[in-house]
Amino acid sequence: MLIEWQDGLLVGFEAIDQEHRDLVSMINQLYDQVRNGQTKETIENTLFTLADQVAAHFTHEDELMRTHGYPHRASHLLEHRKLIDQLDTLLDGIDLLTSPMLLNAIGFMDHWFTDHVVNSDARLGEYLRDHGGTKR
Ligand SMILES: [Fe+2]
Ligand SMILES: [Fe+2]
Repeated sequence: MLIEWQDGLLVGFEAIDQEHRDLVSMINQLYDQVRNGQTKETIENTLFTLADQVAAHFTHEDELMRTHGYPHRASHLLEHRKLIDQLDTLLDGIDLLTSPMLLNAIGFMDHWFTDHVVNSDARLGEYLRDHGGTKR
């Protein structure tokens, strides 16, 4: 396990928090698989699932931002773009990936995720609570 779930990661908006929990568990799963020398196929499947899960989560946050007129939407989307670009690069070169490259990428995800959630998503969660967002 790489990222330990903790209350400091909660943004106070239930649907987002649940998706974040799922993402943490998927990043941890990927980390464990690489560390334990799982097969290339297993690791690739996890990477594709993680990329899909990230894309669905970002789409959901964007829908919430648009629906509720979030004023910091543009900068928030730019941050999302950084993780999407990193995942795209990984998936594009998937045949050439080595364990050190994967561990390096997972380290980036860990930092990106923690920083984005405790700052940007927390601000979004607060806005959604203040502006009557539904818990969907
Ligand atoms: Fe976000
Ligand atoms: Fe998020």
